[in-house]
Amino acid sequence: MLQSSNLRPVLPPTTDVPTHVAIIMDGNGRWAAERGLPRSLGHRAGTESVRGIIKTCVDCGIKVLTLYAFSTENWQRPYDEVEALFAILSDVIDRETDELRQGGVRIRHLGTLNGVPPSLAERIRKAVETTVGNDRLIVNVAFNYGAREEIVRAIRRVVQSGLACNEIDEQVISANLDSAGLPDPDLIIRTAGEMRLSNFLLWQAAYAEIWCTDVYWPDFDAAAFRQAIDDYGRRQRRFGGLSSGKRANGV
Ligand code: IPE
Ligand code: IPE
Ligand code: MG
Repeated sequence: MLQSSNLRPVLPPTTDVPTHVAIIMDGNGRWAAERGLPRSLGHRAGTESVRGIIKTCVDCGIKVLTLYAFSTENWQRPYDEVEALFAILSDVIDRETDELRQGGVRIRHLGTLNGVPPSLAERIRKAVETTVGNDRLIVNVAFNYGAREEIVRAIRRVVQSGLACNEIDEQVISANLDSAGLPDPDLIIRTAGEMRLSNFLLWQAAYAEIWCTDVYWPDFDAAAFRQAIDDYGRRQRRFGGLSSGKRANGV
């Protein structure tokens, strides 16, 4: 049966700057291998790119940035790499949270803390808590995140809420995802040459523009990011309708 939400028009954004950018930060391992370095150093180098991208988001007026940091499938990697990734995230939280908080950044976590070492889980909870009052830029850290698992958790919550079958619509599902309350991503960037979503934001990505580059994540700088944003501004988003001659910026 059609729900009323299916009939509502989806309006394109009114400016050419995406409101929500989501990034699959890929290629740290290959970046390191090309330099004869251990993969963990590629992951460390990748954290420098994150700093630059957050600053560019604030400069451009992007309101939401989602970073894919660790997938539910990444547990399959050798445990020393998983441990290194956890240690790096701990260090980043210790090093950056105060500055982000002072800069008006709110940190949110997408995913669960199941199986995450307690000290790291506590750091993540604290970073989320201490920045909750900020709204200049929301940075979602997709950590121990998998979109299918997120959707399953959302459906379980909906079932537990006791909603009747005909009360369940797209808004209800969206409101029960980890991204509840946020606009869907306008632009998804993937680095390092792969062209797949790898279980990232499968529900929210329905009408996202996708932009891929061969550049490895540690080499992805502000100039590359601005290129992605400029290209987005020239795309024509149709949301299933017919071409209106309008571009993403409404011109
Ligand atoms: C992305 O880099 C970081 C994570 C998945 C945690 P990779 O570690 O996947 O790097 P490649 O793809 O092996 O080069
Ligand atoms: C996706 O990268 C996950 C993150 C960037 C955290 P992967 O390197 O894990 O993806 P696949 O395995 O190449 O699809
Ligand atoms: Mg990879």
